[in-house]
Amino acid sequence: MFLKNSPAGYGLFSKSLHWLNALLVIILIGLGFYMVGLTYYDRWYNAALTWHKSLGLIALGLAMGMAGWQWYSPPPATLPGLQRWERLGARIMHIALMGMMLVIPFSGYLISTSAGQGVEIFGLARIPALLHGGTTLRDVAIAVHFYAAYGTALLVIGHGGAALKHHFVNRDDTLRRML
Ligand code: HEM
Repeated sequence: MFLKNSPAGYGLFSKSLHWLNALLVIILIGLGFYMVGLTYYDRWYNAALTWHKSLGLIALGLAMGMAGWQWYSPPPATLPGLQRWERLGARIMHIALMGMMLVIPFSGYLISTSAGQGVEIFGLARIPALLHGGTTLRDVAIAVHFYAAYGTALLVIGHGGAALKHHFVNRDDTLRRML
């Protein structure tokens, strides 16, 4: 079935989740950086936070879907001809990125719900608060969210740079098979 991954390549479902998640994570890092610089009197103060939380929760749902799909339909093996360190590096990078795509939005959710109130997705659905940890939980979640988000920006640069290097320097199918 063209939706599923096969030993020969990624299926349409994995490709769609990959690019949608990539787009959301990049937008959310930019929006988060912009948003924390706003003051209460700025006209985008509330809207930016609402968009950030809503898109972030969608990103959490997609990342959970991606993790589940990878378990159900395992990705193809790395291309033949790669060095051992390249295979290991790619594996570590994929695990780190998958982990961060869950940790960042979940810590964001904890920041927003630490006072015991749920959080909305564009006013259409409300996700209830799971943990009521007060300010300690909030402070820890803010620190995790901050370091994980900006750390992931570096991982994304490394991941994208490696894909471009394979495409333009090695001229292999690493990037092409995700398109
Ligand atoms: C992949 C998803 C996400 C990414 C990449 C992301 C990224 C960021 C970034 C870069 C910041 C700015 C950090 C700073 O400079 O202090 C931020 C702040 C924030 N994010 Fe997210 N975020 C995501 C998901 C979420 C979700 C799902 C929520 C809540 C439901 C959320 C709530 C917040 C809040 C409340 C802040 C402000 C924290 C503070 O007061 O310092 N984020 N986010």
